[in-house]
Amino acid sequence: EKAGHKHYMSKEIFEQPTVISEALNYYMSADGASLILPEPGIDFTKYDRIVMVACGTAFYACFTAKYWFEQIAKVPVEVDIASEFRYREAPISPRTLAIYVSQSGETADTLAALRYTAGKAETIITVTNSSESSMARESDMSLPILAGVEVGVASTKAFSCQLTVLLMLALKAAQDRGVLSEDEIKTQLSALRSLPGLLNLALDQSSAISDVSALLAESSDVLFLGRGAMYPLALEGALKLKEISYIHAEGYASGELKHGPIALVDQNTPIIVLAPRDKLFEKTVSNMQEVMARGGKVLLISDEQGLKEAGDGVWQTIQMPTVPDALAPILYAVPAQLLAYHTAVAKGTDVDQPRNLAKSVTVE
Ligand code: M6R
Repeated sequence: EKAGHKHYMSKEIFEQPTVISEALNYYMSADGASLILPEPGIDFTKYDRIVMVACGTAFYACFTAKYWFEQIAKVPVEVDIASEFRYREAPISPRTLAIYVSQSGETADTLAALRYTAGKAETIITVTNSSESSMARESDMSLPILAGVEVGVASTKAFSCQLTVLLMLALKAAQDRGVLSEDEIKTQLSALRSLPGLLNLALDQSSAISDVSALLAESSDVLFLGRGAMYPLALEGALKLKEISYIHAEGYASGELKHGPIALVDQNTPIIVLAPRDKLFEKTVSNMQEVMARGGKVLLISDEQGLKEAGDGVWQTIQMPTVPDALAPILYAVPAQLLAYHTAVAKGTDVDQPRNLAKSVTVE
């Protein structure tokens, strides 16, 4: 049942190209030229703003999607973790679309946050892996992520499927609001079609990542850095690592480093830099150099050209395929997941059932 893998987590990481293909097939027309949402559909011209709420990894999917909705569709987005949102009495204006993201659809705080917006937001959507869940039932519309059953407590394929569905929603919003032309949408959709192939190339790095992880397993603290949409992924990478390997890890926006966290940099703390060659690449690299100038040991994750341009003097590298900008957070989730997985295996922790954690948190 683990399909030859030692752990469910590994099986689920390697399933990503397949389940993402299924999600793409579900939401895209057969000719790949347009998006199809389940009835009654969503008309993004009805909303002035989007509020997205979730917990844990699902929250990081929301936080990534904020960058997409704002940059691609020009819609303002507010994101919050459910345990804060449900009690902070946020005013909800009527032209608000509320999006809840939950693998299980049963997380107590997220469900309570959803109920808070019922009757206040114009429309409530749940993006979930469980179409029969409480959250799906209580929403105006539920969008399946089609990840299949996820057994590992550490969420992997659900995260990348959530991201894929949210990116398609951002494209739909851009189309409805006239921000992208039909041709531009087609270009974006055909880029999305390349995602499973790119994910396979990223998965090919698993054994190289395992070698790096053997070194990470010796550390007591690890930092993850990213800018733009790679910032939420830095947070997710740190969560994944601490959750299953019990190594203390923190994610930071690269530009925030000099406002405090750079004091943590020393020879013993690996700093993992998520640096696809997008328009923020140069800035990320200059933050990375600030770290190296203070003796930090950097693990740089970028593509071939990025490693050529910025790899001098770094501690370790992981090479990713070159990727269209919007897809980078989905692709770079793979090395983040594999680093956590192999590090946990090297440490001998219980990968699928980490201590103190439950797959679905149905109590407050
Ligand atoms: O079922 P949900 O997506 O609502 O769960 C949310 C979080 O509890 C979950 O993502 C948690 O953070 C994972 N263990 C992360 O790997």
